[in-house]
Amino acid sequence: MQQALDAILARATEEVAQVQTTHDLAQLKAVFLGKSGEITQLLRQLGRLLADERKAAGAQINITKQAVQALFFNRESDIKELALTERLAAETIDVTLPVSPDPMARLHPLTTTQERAMELFSSMGFRVASGPDIETQAYNFDALNIPENHPARAMQDTFYIDDTHLLRTQTSPVQIREMREHGVPIRLIAPGRVYRCDSDQTHTPMFHQMEGLMIDKDITFAQLKTLLQHFFNRFFDREMRLRFRASYFPFTEPSAEVDVWMPEKNAWLEVLGCGMVHPNVLREVSVDPDEYVGFAFGMGLDRLAMLYYGITDLRSLFANELAFLSQF
Ligand code: DAH
Repeated sequence: MQQALDAILARATEEVAQVQTTHDLAQLKAVFLGKSGEITQLLRQLGRLLADERKAAGAQINITKQAVQALFFNRESDIKELALTERLAAETIDVTLPVSPDPMARLHPLTTTQERAMELFSSMGFRVASGPDIETQAYNFDALNIPENHPARAMQDTFYIDDTHLLRTQTSPVQIREMREHGVPIRLIAPGRVYRCDSDQTHTPMFHQMEGLMIDKDITFAQLKTLLQHFFNRFFDREMRLRFRASYFPFTEPSAEVDVWMPEKNAWLEVLGCGMVHPNVLREVSVDPDEYVGFAFGMGLDRLAMLYYGITDLRSLFANELAFLSQF
């Protein structure tokens, strides 16, 4: 009996060592330990033995059975471990390989500029307002103290839609809409698209402005200057030199145009128009100019983006060239 058992163990040891897959291992296991496997057969034959022989033989068979079970158990974990090691080796990622460029969406430089400007003014208590791109002559001109035959109408190369409607040439009409709706005191900015029939390196038929308006009881030109100085310092992240040049707008008195000094260009560049809101404009929205005063300004957002990012041709902002846009 012991000889037979030793032979089985020896064969099992040899054959188990050669098996490479868990599937083959399961098949081999059936040969030794299955219902009609060799060891099971031996156990069945015990019945034919005498009682005292049976006990000793049973113990011998069980020892071998446990040894064979251990063989299969150990081989199975070896095979699994090997498979895991191989899989890990195959899945190794070489972090030094060049990445395939994954085109990522970016914000348009104008969007970023507008959001920066809005954030800065919001932090100073200015609410963001908006108005329609298609305006009436009444809002775009009349209410802003630009009468019918005023040269300023001709100055702005307007796109007319019909006798009363036009594409707004400026964001200033938002002042009127907002004061009519909310009254005063008021403090807002209104960024948006404006349109003029004009096109060259520094003009496009559609461009962007941001209107500002602040009306209250004791507003002064000095406050306007302080506000703008603060805004430009923070927008450009450096101490900016501003120059207020006396100018003319029908809806402000006095009026000024503001230039910023650009050391890298060694030049003053115009960035906005501003002034104290004209009494006629306040009367137009039923505000008593003896009680309320305030300032307004309108800045070119495209110009601001160009200065901030060092863009030289305004038209490139609207050309939808990915190569250009992906720089920002
Ligand atoms: N609307 C003017 C323009 O488009 C800019 C402007 C100037 C706006 C003075 C204002 C202002 O609010 O006070 O040229």
